Amino acid sequence: MAKIVLLPGDGIGTEIMQEAVKVLEVVGEMEDIDFQWETADMGGVAIDEHGTPLPDDTLDACREADGVLLGAVGGPKWDDLPGDLRPEAGLLGIRRGLGLFANLRPARVFNPLVDASSLKAELAAGVDILVVRELTGGLYFGRPRFREETETGGFRAVDTLEYTTEEIRRIALVAFEAAQKRRQKVTSVDKSNILESSRLWREVVGEVAREFPSIECEHMFVDNCAMQLLRDPKQFDVILTTNMFGDILSDEAAMLTGSLGMLPSASIGGSVGLYEPVHGSAPTIAGQDIANPLAMILSAAMLLQYSLNNVKAALRVEKAVEDVLRRGYRTQDIWQEGMQLVGTKAMGDEVAKAVAEGGTYGKS
Ligand code: IPM
Ligand code: MG
Repeated sequence: MAKIVLLPGDGIGTEIMQEAVKVLEVVGEMEDIDFQWETADMGGVAIDEHGTPLPDDTLDACREADGVLLGAVGGPKWDDLPGDLRPEAGLLGIRRGLGLFANLRPARVFNPLVDASSLKAELAAGVDILVVRELTGGLYFGRPRFREETETGGFRAVDTLEYTTEEIRRIALVAFEAAQKRRQKVTSVDKSNILESSRLWREVVGEVAREFPSIECEHMFVDNCAMQLLRDPKQFDVILTTNMFGDILSDEAAMLTGSLGMLPSASIGGSVGLYEPVHGSAPTIAGQDIANPLAMILSAAMLLQYSLNNVKAALRVEKAVEDVLRRGYRTQDIWQEGMQLVGTKAMGDEVAKAVAEGGTYGKS
């Protein structure tokens, strides 16, 4: 039995979650996984229902699960609340509360989508990058953090960027171990020409690199990395970086793949993994059956791989997504002339069908 907590959240979260569950049910039948679903509130809906973006009951349910699927949180309705009551605070709370210090964000260009990339096809074809983002430290969590009035009648606002040796070491290990299963290269991204915390970052990553002699380790400044991602993205295998830099660079890497709607993520390192699309809640298109559910579905594939250790099941889903794209099915965000435009549900149906039919999908 696999106990999965579903946190659909806000905006398009509910719609895309339904499609991921649909696909997992089919995989479950084929791979003999008996899923048990439990839905809990998080984000804006939790603020409306319980007065807090992350109720204790939700966190407790997650702690007892084998895996957690999260849709998306946030929306204009809650934008004016104070920082610690916004939906996003729930997201940070759950990451920290479950000890999820490692965020894996694969940016892979699916061949049928090469032309949807923001880059020229020859630059985009074959891009396969894994961004390993530190998730529970750095600028997002550093203390002190405050705003105070100044004598001039204005304000002074402070955030703190800090990292410890231990925090850097454990995330570096995740990156190097991932590179061992990939193309044997880690690019560690920092701003060590300026930042003290980046100097420590570079030092500690260098030490970890010596424990992995077969992995090529390169250090790159973040501004250069932002540029190199557009100039020659194929030079990257694993990108290892801090919380803030990882947030920014993973959105950039996402656009190489054609749409933010394609990018899944896994947050691991604690006792239970959390899987969510990189995109947000997209409130302007919510409830219209037009959102792209593929990032959510691919996040479910990551759950199969990392939380249930079922690589075969994960590959079934990834392959099904690729098959469906090859057959020309597209949601509006990745649609191009000559392709078959489908909505959220129809896309989920096609993926579920492709999983069920395995290698024979689309052959008749
Ligand atoms: C992400 C998002 C979040 C982050 C926001 C919504 C808090 O941008 O997961 O990349 O900054 O981590
Ligand atoms: Mg982000």
